[in-house]
Amino acid sequence: MSAPRITVLGTGYLGATHAVCMAALGFEVLGMDVDKAKVEALAAGQLPFYEPGLDTLLVEQLATGRLRFTTSYAEVAEFGDVHFIGVGTPQKPGENAADMRYVDAVVDGLAPHLTRPCLIAGKSTVPVGTAERLADRVAELAPAGADAELCWNPEFLREGFAVEDTLHPDRLVFGVRSEKAEQTLREVYATPIGEGTPVVVTDFATAQLVKVAANSFLATKISFINAMAEVCEAAGGNVVTLADAIGYDARIGRRFLNAGLGFGGGCLPKDIRAFMARAGELGAGEALTFLQEVDAINMRRRTRTVDLAKELLGGTVLGARVAVLGAAFKPDSDDVRDSPALAVAASLQLQGAQVVVYDPEANANAKRVFPTLRCVDSATEAITGADVILHLTEWKEFRELDPVQVATMVEQRNIVDGRNALDVDAWRGAGWHYRSLGRP
Ligand code: UGA
Repeated sequence: MSAPRITVLGTGYLGATHAVCMAALGFEVLGMDVDKAKVEALAAGQLPFYEPGLDTLLVEQLATGRLRFTTSYAEVAEFGDVHFIGVGTPQKPGENAADMRYVDAVVDGLAPHLTRPCLIAGKSTVPVGTAERLADRVAELAPAGADAELCWNPEFLREGFAVEDTLHPDRLVFGVRSEKAEQTLREVYATPIGEGTPVVVTDFATAQLVKVAANSFLATKISFINAMAEVCEAAGGNVVTLADAIGYDARIGRRFLNAGLGFGGGCLPKDIRAFMARAGELGAGEALTFLQEVDAINMRRRTRTVDLAKELLGGTVLGARVAVLGAAFKPDSDDVRDSPALAVAASLQLQGAQVVVYDPEANANAKRVFPTLRCVDSATEAITGADVILHLTEWKEFRELDPVQVATMVEQRNIVDGRNALDVDAWRGAGWHYRSLGRP
């Protein structure tokens, strides 16, 4: 039997990465998005976002002829054996719940066009119960004889490592209702992806829950260490040493124990909130009230970072020249969704500071969400004349700054290391007032 033909609906971080990687594995792939400009850019080999390695892989795969993009549901339905759903599920404005309009639109757009047997595999992060609802919707909308089945196959990729995580995942999760669906997924992943990768085959509910449980655990781990940072600040302890020491216990592990400005991005913050909202609807809200604390600890780190800048400047930032290094929610990404760095920059500006931001990749996105922010083209430009520097996204370029050289550019030697990523001895040794989160 010939290899299944694959379509990917939604070409954001998740969808575009999945489409390009599937083509790289030798499949015929059709990526689909309702955003015509995005489709045209992708078809021309331009990635609409920054993701290391994916840009060159996109160009290579377009050249093979195996990878194409379209805006047409009819074309997708006609082409594909397996349709992956990779659209976003952002937080609803003013609510904790996830906005399901894009997932719903994809199913409503695709199902009526289905004419031949196919498997629809949801990848987006969704409130548990969505897959069940969408399976009913497909059954209702797909023409008789289409033989379309739905399954859930959550994705665990990290931005900045999207290609690596897609091609070498820690595990594969198949939420299926039939052996046929399982077999089809096994066939798709019987590429190098599946070699040696644990496969968890389960029901719809568990498959959807695995994803939000994983992200909740990661968020909890970060907030746990940030809570320890708060206590270290009060007691005069060092949270980095503490993290190293507890991390040696294999049951705890050192990864995701970096204390600092906390988590942001388009996933962890909205996922824990949507999970709480969904658990509440299911009558299990009490089980997840701790996630409210996880969220609150995380948000307090942003306020604390602003306060550290104020403390260094004698109580106020009014009129001070503030250099903000970083706008993306983490390094190797241009994503500013719920970015802690941007939240701190915005807060300082609202409090009357003259804020100048530099991020190697996220300036344009930062300007888009916060148009009055002054973004410049280099760290040097941001730093020159500063009364205080805030290091908020730990790009390699910032970690490599020479404190002696930087000292010659600023008005005052004040630095807040929001990511505990700079060499504290080197900065203090060069005469800097160095403050960080959770370290004396
Ligand atoms: C996260 C998960 O790690 C992925 O497994 C998941 O697939 C993805 O969400 C998703 O749901 O799509 P991502 O949002 O790309 O991935 O970024 P992470 O690497 O998880 O970082 C999230 C935030 O936590 C960043 O702001 C980062 O700076 C922060 N962080 C991370 C810390 O503050 N401390 C740490 O020790 C680790």
